[in-house]
Amino acid sequence: HGAVRREVSRQAGKGDLGARMIIDPEAVRDPYPHYEAMRSQGRMVRSALSWTTVDHEITTEVLRSPDFCVGMRMPENAPGLLKAALRAGGSWPLGPAEPPSLLSIDPPDHNRIRKLVTRSFSAKAITRLRGRTEEVATSLLDDMGAGGGTHRRADVVEQYASLLPATVIAEMLGAPLEMREDFLRWGEGGAYSLDMGLTYPMFRRSEKDIDALADWMDGHFDDLRRTPNDSILSSLVQAYDEEEGRLTHDELLSLALLLLAAGFETTVNLIGNGTRLLLTHPDQLERLRADPSLWPNAVDEILRFDSPVQRTGRVAARDTEVCGFPVKRGALVLTQLGGANRDPAVFTDPDRFDVGRENADRHVAFSQGIHYCLGAALAKMEGEVGLRALFDRYPDLRSDGPPELRGTRVLRGYRSLPVRLGEAR
Ligand code: HEM
Repeated sequence: HGAVRREVSRQAGKGDLGARMIIDPEAVRDPYPHYEAMRSQGRMVRSALSWTTVDHEITTEVLRSPDFCVGMRMPENAPGLLKAALRAGGSWPLGPAEPPSLLSIDPPDHNRIRKLVTRSFSAKAITRLRGRTEEVATSLLDDMGAGGGTHRRADVVEQYASLLPATVIAEMLGAPLEMREDFLRWGEGGAYSLDMGLTYPMFRRSEKDIDALADWMDGHFDDLRRTPNDSILSSLVQAYDEEEGRLTHDELLSLALLLLAAGFETTVNLIGNGTRLLLTHPDQLERLRADPSLWPNAVDEILRFDSPVQRTGRVAARDTEVCGFPVKRGALVLTQLGGANRDPAVFTDPDRFDVGRENADRHVAFSQGIHYCLGAALAKMEGEVGLRALFDRYPDLRSDGPPELRGTRVLRGYRSLPVRLGEAR
């Protein structure tokens, strides 16, 4: 681990942009200038570890192509550093070896497992959850404003943006609400597992937190066997127990962990990043006040402009070609979602935050192809309900001191967003 990190550091020092994305602290604070540096080097840029791209068309094509894979079929002839990491046993280099979840499983297994949960996250199922999400938002806003006073300070992320999606996913999955604080804590360490090039203490914290969450989940499965209910987790446990071969224990566990973690760790950033953007662009907030029908589009624009998931990657399963670029079997291509979402070939004046942007929904913030975010409809609904309720309740909401970023690279968002609430409506 240390040797690989040193090598990435060395490459970054030599100006390798892919390596800098992995290791440079500036790229955490503000990745967007790095994407523009990459863009100026070409549509596909060679890096020590991989190919990397901020091109919208190439990103879309790679993510949709059956010639690329995520895990199990990853070929043994992968290049340099990736090979070393593969030999060490992990599917993704430089990060803790998580159990293979949907995100790192290829067809046909991917299809078999994803099928088990598609219905629960369909647009129809999510529409039914809207009313309950509004109730949760209202009650969290009540708590946040308790004590009154127009100068009351609060932290939008800690007291609201993290708790709203956490509550909704815990209720959907049938996970006990009193565990919410633990989930959030474990989820924070777990979120590091998506990043490459972690320092050793972060690596250890991440492993420990994932282990703790997995232990809790296994115990919870036993509870659900004794007392089944109509939750998603209970139906998965039943599917596992009833039909041998339908799901392995590892698949059951990692699917449950992914659903919980994705529910906890991503939408918080959509609401947090959105709050920050609207506070710093009062003209855009004004437009939403004047025309609330713009809200769904505004959520897409937030996802485009400051994407909660900044990158993903694929490995070529065979020699292939994307948009005329030959890619050798085994090559890793890092698709920089946050950079593709600023591609001027698709988005006019891409660095402008514009809630009325006509093609905002062409962003790739939820990826593309077979791994397209299962929770996209849920996240968009929560984002819209959450942001609207916040700005409706506190029309004078103001920033109150510098926000603090989480410090993760794949997931981009704030740990803390201090505000003054102002008068409640
Ligand atoms: C997959 C983004 C919320 C569940 C993904 C991927 C992205 C993404 C980019 C695909 C990664 C890849 O192609 O390698 C987001 C964003 C969210 C969000 C930006 C919030 C704003 C959620 C929520 C859930 C969820 C609320 C619900 C539990 C999943 C699952 C997958 C996934 C299960 C794996 C799908 C597969 O591999 O087939 N998400 N997500 N996500 N997401 Fe989300």
